[in-house]
Amino acid sequence: GIVILDFGSQYNQLIARRIREFGVYAEILPYNASVEEILSKEPKGIILSGGPSSVFAEDAALINPSLYDQNVPVFGICYGMQLTAHLLGGKVKKGEKGEYGKSEFTIMEESKLFQNVPQTSTVWMSHFDEVSELPEGFKLSGKSNIDIASIINEEKNIYAVQFHPEVSHSEFGTKILENFVFDICQCEKNWELKDFISTEIQRIKEVVGDKKVILGLSGGVDSSVAAVLIHRAIGDQLTCIFVDTGLLRKDEGKKVMENYGKHFHMNIKMVDAREQFLSNLKGISDPEQKRKIIGREFVEVFDAESQKFEDATFLAQGTIYPDVIESQSVKGPSATIKSHHNVGGLPEHMKLQLLEPLRELFKDEVRKVGVELGIPRELVYRHPFPGPGLGIRVLGEVDEEKVRILQEADDIFIQELYKHNLYDEVSQAFVVLLPVKSVGVMGDERTYEYTAVVRSANTIDFMTATWSKLPYEFLEIVSNRIINEVRGINRVAYDISSKPPATIEWE
Ligand code: XMP
Repeated sequence: GIVILDFGSQYNQLIARRIREFGVYAEILPYNASVEEILSKEPKGIILSGGPSSVFAEDAALINPSLYDQNVPVFGICYGMQLTAHLLGGKVKKGEKGEYGKSEFTIMEESKLFQNVPQTSTVWMSHFDEVSELPEGFKLSGKSNIDIASIINEEKNIYAVQFHPEVSHSEFGTKILENFVFDICQCEKNWELKDFISTEIQRIKEVVGDKKVILGLSGGVDSSVAAVLIHRAIGDQLTCIFVDTGLLRKDEGKKVMENYGKHFHMNIKMVDAREQFLSNLKGISDPEQKRKIIGREFVEVFDAESQKFEDATFLAQGTIYPDVIESQSVKGPSATIKSHHNVGGLPEHMKLQLLEPLRELFKDEVRKVGVELGIPRELVYRHPFPGPGLGIRVLGEVDEEKVRILQEADDIFIQELYKHNLYDEVSQAFVVLLPVKSVGVMGDERTYEYTAVVRSANTIDFMTATWSKLPYEFLEIVSNRIINEVRGINRVAYDISSKPPATIEWE
């Protein structure tokens, strides 16, 4: 397949996904991976990604130039082009104002990379520095607003462009990536999810043998798909542990038992920890403190439970590829906006071996595997749900009554989204309960009850998001139903904040 070296561009995962969509395996390694490690993957081609670095920086992200001499085609994108020029004897100059957004690219010299790409086309630029002198042996292959927008040394199979072919704004970007992958690297289409399933089932059988596996099932997509896949491979040697924190969506425990226990015949140990979570949250209203408590209690409950399975050798997790990339990423630690609690981060003090069958897959691939395994579409395409659950959607202090009120209201909103075919149109939708009471009137009675906020966001990567422009008529139905059917709420508001500066969740 193709190895992508990660210099920190936000588009890196997109490059890998595009290539996998061609049916070719692609994986991302940190830019400072050793040449041996890169070659151990037997890559047919190497892509140097974009990134925020500058070759002028003191701690510039560099690679060992011997990578260009391994008889493996190299394709530099954006920073990857500047790096190539810099390392092979060309020159890079600091940009004066940079170039961001759409630009017109003109091919100056035919090459394999630009087969079936018109002379001029629209491309997406995002850079500050630019190449000012070609390295020896390279041809000037294209220009845009800048004089040198592509350099190529066809003899040595080194290609570079200043724009981003992986983003959809680059009109012929996909064609260019295809040319690199198939014509230049001669990759074959052999990455298929069906093959993935059968190969992975075989691998799990071999690795696990007759040993026992436990898995923390959350009801979310990743852990569910991992569970069903492992269950396919080893059947009853797998036991799932489902922790009812009391902070889950309405009837979540019941649904998990029905879907995965009854329908898939999996062993599921349901742990009722509702009391423990609620009593630990009593009197606590600070969001970060609540997150920490929920995370801590979760580890404690799961730990205690898993220790009861003395004969378990493996701990299975629904780790997916973006989790892996994030943990190996070369980017410095960014500011902690919210401390994330994932059902994943447990293994350090547990003497179990990890089994992570999805660690090579992107989310959309995990979903396709789920569908292929027979998990109902509705479950596979669920919106994400945060680890701390309703604990951070009941704002301020959490108690059983508030959780119940929120569950009812949230359930109505979600039901209506499905009913109006809007669920798949939005990325994440839920209700938040404010610790604010307001006055209302119902019949002839004065009411004084809680305020609920309906939240729906549209996003691709959950890093930035816009609020969903749901129809007024729809919002009216949701509001009426919540106020009429949920005792304890007499006012509903709609959240019209985008991220940033707001976040998707309220805490
Ligand atoms: P924010 O609120 O930061 O959320 O815009 C971005 C996405 O992350 C989810 N989220 C979490 N997921 N554990 C999780 O597994 C957490 O602690 C957590 N906090 C937020 C949130 O639901 C949204 O999808």
